[in-house]
Amino acid sequence: MPIKNKVVVITGASSGIGAATAKELAKQGAKVVLGARRTERLEQLLTEITTAGGQAVTQQTDVTDHKQVQALVDLAVEKFGRLDVIFNNAGLMPLSKLHLLKVDEWDRMIDVNIKGVLYGIAAALPIMRQQGSGQIIATDSVAGHFVHPNTAVYAGTKFAVRTIMEGLRQEEGKNNIRSMIVSPGAVETELYSTITDEKVRANTYNNERSYGLSDVDIANAVAYAIGQPENVNINEILLRPTKQPL
Ligand SMILES: NC(=O)c1ccc[n+]([C@@H]2O[C@H](COP(=O)([O-])OP(=O)(O)OC[C@H]3O[C@@H](n4cnc5c(N)ncnc54)[C@H](OP(=O)(O)O)[C@@H]3O)[C@@H](O)[C@H]2O)c1
Repeated sequence: MPIKNKVVVITGASSGIGAATAKELAKQGAKVVLGARRTERLEQLLTEITTAGGQAVTQQTDVTDHKQVQALVDLAVEKFGRLDVIFNNAGLMPLSKLHLLKVDEWDRMIDVNIKGVLYGIAAALPIMRQQGSGQIIATDSVAGHFVHPNTAVYAGTKFAVRTIMEGLRQEEGKNNIRSMIVSPGAVETELYSTITDEKVRANTYNNERSYGLSDVDIANAVAYAIGQPENVNINEILLRPTKQPL
């Protein structure tokens, strides 16, 4: 089913997976509505997409603020008349051991990775129910399935997202609303820069960058799910680099 003309809101669109997905979907004719905090990065992306003939709008959005997420979804409806897909992708991954008590980082991960997704659902669901169709996608992670030392809180947020999205699927499928998590293994993006524990950052990055996926690999997976016929609800795509052991 064509992606062309679908109206797609993406959070965390200023870099990495969000930006790559915006470009891929716009290339396939979607109208993309892009939110993140760094407006200069959003502006660059907008120029890139429109220069290539795509359609996009951007708005500064902090997903920890319910009203800002609502405003992003409202912008989609105002500019393009409907909302076909919301991709709740914004996230951060400041890994560390629990005993280091990086409580501010725990709060931040809960606010962005969990509450940000919930705010996206809250903004999109009433419109999609009224339309009688829609698709809600969240970026989860392999860490939504397995926990390791250093990942207790990050994995906790991603386990939560997986649970919330499965509940959403069970509740809203009958209303013709599709829902999916995309669960990547290692992807080479700026995400590693959110790790403030220097040793953990260096180890994680050096281990994973030798085999990591690219943001385009994840964009392709998301585009595949969006492009399926309406009666096909791809619920999860879990994709690792071939050489990733765990
Ligand atoms: N890279 C990986 O290996 C990997 C693996 C599994 C899952 N993931 C997940 O993939 C998602 C995207 O991450 P990425 O790898 O593409 O890393 P990234 O390049 O660092 O992208 C993260 C995005 O989230 C946005 N963001 C962070 N806090 C935000 C906030 N409060 N409000 C709005 N936007 C916010 C950032 O934009 P601003 O800073 O401009 O706001 C940025 O656009 C995350 O949910 C991450 O957990 C990544």
